[in-house]
Amino acid sequence: MKQRSIGTTQVGAIGLGGMPMSIEGRPDTDRSVRTIHAALDAGVTLIDTADAYHLHADEVGHNETLIAQALASWGGDTSGVLVATKGGHLRPGDGTWTVDGSPTHLREAVEGSLKRLGVDAIGLYQFHRPDPKVPYADSVGTLRDLLDEGKIRQAGISNATVDQIRQAQEILGGRLVSVQNQFSPAFRSSEPELELCDELGIAFLPWSPLGGISRAAELGTRFAEFDRVAEAHGVSPQRVTLAWMLAKSERVVPIPGASRPESIRDSAQAAELTLTDEEFTRLDRAA
Ligand SMILES: NC(=O)c1ccc[n+]([C@@H]2O[C@H](COP(=O)([O-])OP(=O)(O)OC[C@H]3O[C@@H](n4cnc5c(N)ncnc54)[C@H](OP(=O)(O)O)[C@@H]3O)[C@@H](O)[C@H]2O)c1
Repeated sequence: MKQRSIGTTQVGAIGLGGMPMSIEGRPDTDRSVRTIHAALDAGVTLIDTADAYHLHADEVGHNETLIAQALASWGGDTSGVLVATKGGHLRPGDGTWTVDGSPTHLREAVEGSLKRLGVDAIGLYQFHRPDPKVPYADSVGTLRDLLDEGKIRQAGISNATVDQIRQAQEILGGRLVSVQNQFSPAFRSSEPELELCDELGIAFLPWSPLGGISRAAELGTRFAEFDRVAEAHGVSPQRVTLAWMLAKSERVVPIPGASRPESIRDSAQAAELTLTDEEFTRLDRAA
């Protein structure tokens, strides 16, 4: 698979989002493991997860545990796989998502993720979402301290504004390597953050790139231009969407979610799909 950079790490241009395998509607463990193995077989070397990807209150880190299990049972060399996790979101078990960006919580969260992933240091740790009750500088300052202590190898942020990206870059002393924001044909408002990442040389990881778990299947019917280009290439509109994102900037590394091997196999091939300039312009205007 074509490669892209996240900080000092090279990863396949298409990553795997782990969330659909651990929240509402998740499949059984066997299908999840087969999905992660299919991703690895296809050359995926970035897997995005979070300690908050779970359903019930007593299973924090369900997705991290699943990924660690799938990596261990794959059979190939996984030393080049970057598992990117996150902290700062919580799921109390009633279907809601809450936030805690306090240094105390983030430190506890990192310890839990280290154990579940079975590593000495986390390859990429992302602050999941700003907590209005905690100064942003305190949350990101904790990531800086964790970097200095060697608990995390690289630091990223998620759901960040342009100002927060600049602030985080300053607090981390130029060591911010990634920003993970929502971005898809249906959700374009992160374009300023994408452009800033491009300018600063920071990886931009679009989340819900296909419109989210419940809407990904309708992408072609909702966005006719993506369907037309897909038909011309004889591929899925989902694959065209990911190829369009890759063409926007060398810094983009989409992380489409999957709960079936077929989905990630199809998405992974977006890395090799080249759009003409004319197609790119049509999609960029249509999205
Ligand atoms: N930072 C944040 O706040 C945040 C928020 C949300 C998500 N995320 C991350 O971003 C990742 C991606 O977002 P998402 O999972 O919400 O939504 P998504 O990637 O837009 O859509 C996921 C769904 O797309 C389907 N799909 C994937 N590839 C396909 C293809 N080639 N053809 C047809 N269908 C395809 C999958 O179906 P099947 O299930 O049938 O395989 C999956 O359920 C998450 O998994 C998570 O890691 C981060």
